[in-house]
Amino acid sequence: MPGGVNGKTILLIVGGGIAAFKALELVRELRRAGARVLPVLTENGARFVTPLSLSALAGDKVRTSLWDLEDEAAMGHIQLSRAADLIVVCPATADLMARAAAGQANDLATTLLLATDTPVLMVPAMNVRMWLHPATQRNLATLRGDGVTVMTPDEGEMACGEFGPGRLPDVPAIMAAIAAQFGDKPLTGRHALVTAGPTFEPIDPVRFIGNHSSGKQSFAIAGALAAAGARVTLVAGPVHLPTPAGVIRIDVMTALQMQAACEAALPADIAVMVAAVADWRAEAAAQKLKKDGSAPPPLALTENPDILAGIGHHARRPTLVVGFAAETNDMLAHAAAKRVKKGADWIVANNVSDGVFGSDANHVHLVTASGVEDWGAQPKADIATTLAARIAAQFSGPT
Ligand code: C5P
Repeated sequence: MPGGVNGKTILLIVGGGIAAFKALELVRELRRAGARVLPVLTENGARFVTPLSLSALAGDKVRTSLWDLEDEAAMGHIQLSRAADLIVVCPATADLMARAAAGQANDLATTLLLATDTPVLMVPAMNVRMWLHPATQRNLATLRGDGVTVMTPDEGEMACGEFGPGRLPDVPAIMAAIAAQFGDKPLTGRHALVTAGPTFEPIDPVRFIGNHSSGKQSFAIAGALAAAGARVTLVAGPVHLPTPAGVIRIDVMTALQMQAACEAALPADIAVMVAAVADWRAEAAAQKLKKDGSAPPPLALTENPDILAGIGHHARRPTLVVGFAAETNDMLAHAAAKRVKKGADWIVANNVSDGVFGSDANHVHLVTASGVEDWGAQPKADIATTLAARIAAQFSGPT
């Protein structure tokens, strides 16, 4: 939702960390969204990205030093920090956060941060131990107390090989956080219902029928809708993912529980049904089934209700109903048929014959009443922001 960024001036301070290269991607996205970017590179930042690449992408001079007299003549640090509508520190290293929290002004970046009353957004990225260290957590609390918005870093495998929180958030998430700084929340006042993950259908107290859905795409969609201002109810099957900021999460196990939770969440303006609901459930045995050397126990299966079709044909049907279709063949034909049969407005179709489950990328087509759009291969986070923007556009238009 980069609309609010259009025409804004962003002072971008690039700190010295392995994630600094992602700042280049952020510059490109900001400019694509119509922002002017004034880049500032710390001394250590310049070890990771060159001033030349940063200035080429920003289309503006890179400022690096407080003692650059030519700069002082052209635009002093006071004016520089005040020329911006927003200051973004990306990546915000542990050291930069510490110096900013202490109110130091020992280089251009910290001087700018101290000399301004412009809103500041910090995007931290650092080693997991550094992030979790009490000193960093103390600095984080100080900065937040001072009114700085500090994003929560992503969890995952780090460049250094360790695992945990500390990774720079994805660029679309940073863009959404920047847009939010400008109050760009087009879905404010809307309620969105999102289903996520697999369902597990028990066979006995220890076994179940399940599938490989990771929930990554749906959690990203829930987060993007919340970032766009919607009140989001996320009904999630069993997945191990952190709840996106601002999202109300309801954990369920089975399809019947998911259906009941969706019913209870109505009314909603928007429903995005992403869950890979198990098609069948078994009559669960009360005791653990035993192998006794003879024939395996028969599994009597009952078909589960189609939650999307139920919502699509509901008396309290949300204004916009979006379904997903994971197909291995004749994808678009199946998706178009599914759209009509299930009473959905849109179907996001993807080909799952090539390892989409659990991966961070996906190639989707949007199937609507007016045709098919190929969105190409993209990170799941980008698909989420694009979909949220499309949904927002649907609610802001004349119809
Ligand atoms: O029929 P199929 O499972 O391919 O349809 C996929 C779409 O329908 C997804 O949006 C999925 O969340 C939804 N669905 C559902 N309940 C089911 C089966 C599918 O909501 N029992």
